[in-house]
Amino acid sequence: MIEKDFIPGVAGTLPETGTIRWQAPSNIALVKYWGKRPGQLPTNPSVSFTLDTSATRTILKYRRISTPSKAPEFRIYLDGVAAPHFSDKIGTFFERISVYQPFLSSYEFEIRTENTFPHSSGIASSASGMAALSLCLMDLERAIYPDAKSDMYLKKASFLARLGSGSAARSIAGGLVEWGEHASVPGSSDLYGIAYPFEVHPVFRSYQDTILLVDKGEKQVSSTVGHALMQGHPFAHSRFDQARQHLDELQPVLKEGDLPAFISLVESEALSLHAMMMSSNPYFILMKPGTLEIINRIWEYRRETRTPVCFTLDAGANVHLLYPAENKEAVRAFVKEELLVFCQDGQYLQDQVGPGALRI
Ligand code: DP6
Repeated sequence: MIEKDFIPGVAGTLPETGTIRWQAPSNIALVKYWGKRPGQLPTNPSVSFTLDTSATRTILKYRRISTPSKAPEFRIYLDGVAAPHFSDKIGTFFERISVYQPFLSSYEFEIRTENTFPHSSGIASSASGMAALSLCLMDLERAIYPDAKSDMYLKKASFLARLGSGSAARSIAGGLVEWGEHASVPGSSDLYGIAYPFEVHPVFRSYQDTILLVDKGEKQVSSTVGHALMQGHPFAHSRFDQARQHLDELQPVLKEGDLPAFISLVESEALSLHAMMMSSNPYFILMKPGTLEIINRIWEYRRETRTPVCFTLDAGANVHLLYPAENKEAVRAFVKEELLVFCQDGQYLQDQVGPGALRI
């Protein structure tokens, strides 16, 4: 599919008022998206686990206005409180999607959003937030274009979400989600995420993610700035090749449940992402001393107990511990005894692979 396939045909009747509610999950990338081209298109394909309990819930109220405005009008609330600091981001999002949803300018919106994880946890809510809002907007679109093909619904929700935040394209479907065109992944596209189309061993269907909150502060580098640093980065092309190769290598690993290979690939991805930041111009170190302490403890624990637990990182200091459900008790005891001391206020989030977005 190409971009223009997402422009709808002739509109039916525009509903006057209504309320729509969706919950969309956060996700954690195994093969990372880092670097983008204009139009929110990724420079390499990525794949993630959809999370279960870390999610955003959004209520969208719409009211038709008599004279369409130039840009959609909206008010946004986070946890019941007006959140004007989100206005620019949402405004840009509306601007980007208005060609694909031309009816938007005929409405005024009230967006009420809340995260199931603490706002100050340092966990990015843009993926789950943009996915939840996109799904709400798709419900409104469906009311206006009742004849649209139903298989377009989730694809377009992911397409819209991508225009809000790249990784949000992977926060619609459950399980494992792939985003980014890649020759050996059938159906893959730079425009939207797809359910990972290959066989996946049952161990990965209930994989656990303990998110250790090492640093709950504002991100030191926004992801937009981070992605931009890949332009002209001396190692950019090797990195994009590495991500493509990792995606290929992951296929038999996910099929066979090869945990040692999974661990080495996932940890290598996380460290490569940070290596890119450390070697960009300007350069950044987003890990904190606690991040490195945790990584070393994980390696030591794995060596001593042979428990298949590994880590991954996003563009920040927090650590995601990934492990099979059958190792839940042992790993959680290890977390409490050895790792929580490195977390800010001893805080962590317990999550696992989840089923994807839900209408609520
Ligand atoms: C390190 O999706 O937050 O988490 O497209 O600018 O909104 P924007 O970036 P964003 O980047 C996420 C980067 C990452 C890796 C990943 O999730 O794949």
